[in-house]
Amino acid sequence: MRVFVMGGTGVIGRRLLPRLVDAGHEVTVSSRSRACFTELGAMGVQGVVMDALDADSVSAALQDASPEVVMHQATDLSKRDAQANARLRREGTRHLVDAAKTAGVRRIVAQSIAWAYEPGPTPADETTPLDDDLDPGRAVSVGGVRALESAVSEIAEHVVLRYGTLYGPGTWFAPDGPVADALAHGMLPADEAVSSFLQVEDAAAAAVQALEWAPGTYNIVDDEPAPASAWVPVLAGMWGAPVPSPGREGGGTWERGARNAKARAAGWVPLCPTWRSGFRTAMA
Ligand SMILES: NC(=O)c1ccc[n+]([C@@H]2O[C@H](COP(=O)([O-])OP(=O)(O)OC[C@H]3O[C@@H](n4cnc5c(N)ncnc54)[C@H](OP(=O)(O)O)[C@@H]3O)[C@@H](O)[C@H]2O)c1
Repeated sequence: MRVFVMGGTGVIGRRLLPRLVDAGHEVTVSSRSRACFTELGAMGVQGVVMDALDADSVSAALQDASPEVVMHQATDLSKRDAQANARLRREGTRHLVDAAKTAGVRRIVAQSIAWAYEPGPTPADETTPLDDDLDPGRAVSVGGVRALESAVSEIAEHVVLRYGTLYGPGTWFAPDGPVADALAHGMLPADEAVSSFLQVEDAAAAAVQALEWAPGTYNIVDDEPAPASAWVPVLAGMWGAPVPSPGREGGGTWERGARNAKARAAGWVPLCPTWRSGFRTAMA
């Protein structure tokens, strides 16, 4: 297939590209800079300069590549700026979908998150509504997710991948990342807020498989949603950081984790089915 990837140079994208090439796809990848083009060329991938916030550049890139499938793996998180990331989800996805429709794209696969669900006592599945009772900080993030998922759904064959919290080399959960830093400074509460994790290679593998999945929304998370009171001490032990006190009770009421039964039924088998072994395999 001719696959156009936006976000192919990011933490998931870098793992995704070799998988797409190995699977025999003809791949074009966008970047805002040519700096990565030599590396992309060596991988057998065609680079194109494009900024999702510039509608004309998106339109030109999609017309030129004429892909059958668009893969949206772009985030704007390297500066940990939630507003910038929400803008990319709103405006960048709008431009991408408009250009894809004009270029006759058949399918789109897009990255979303598995922690935008309304609060509840058990892990969410894909039928759980997104949260609409929001504090201002969460409204930014969930608003961006709603806009992204709504735009993507305008293409008949759309697959939304609601990823769990990524861990592994190059992510925030790497030993040299911001989570390790917060832990070292006693700023990571070991409370009852529940997270669903995802090893970054498993995120890339799901995206490749999603080229063949029935259209719809899929939680891409491991098998074991867990409260911070369970996983924070494990990380502290691995990284030689002080084990934090239990912290406030409850955690964010929306932090409930997610279930992956739908993705598993579609054939996705995570390499790291639980963070308990995955943290050590990927990050020790
Ligand atoms: N589910 C999760 O937990 C999750 C998901 C994603 C990221 N993260 C975290 O966020 C951190 C940063 O992610 P990252 O390293 O992938 O970097 P990033 O800054 O989020 O960039 C990711 C990708 O998006 C592309 N991109 C950004 N802005 C764009 C724009 N305006 N137009 C087109 N493409 C654009 C980038 O391409 P160019 O820069 O080449 O243009 C890059 O390929 C990671 O360490 C990870 O832990 C977490």
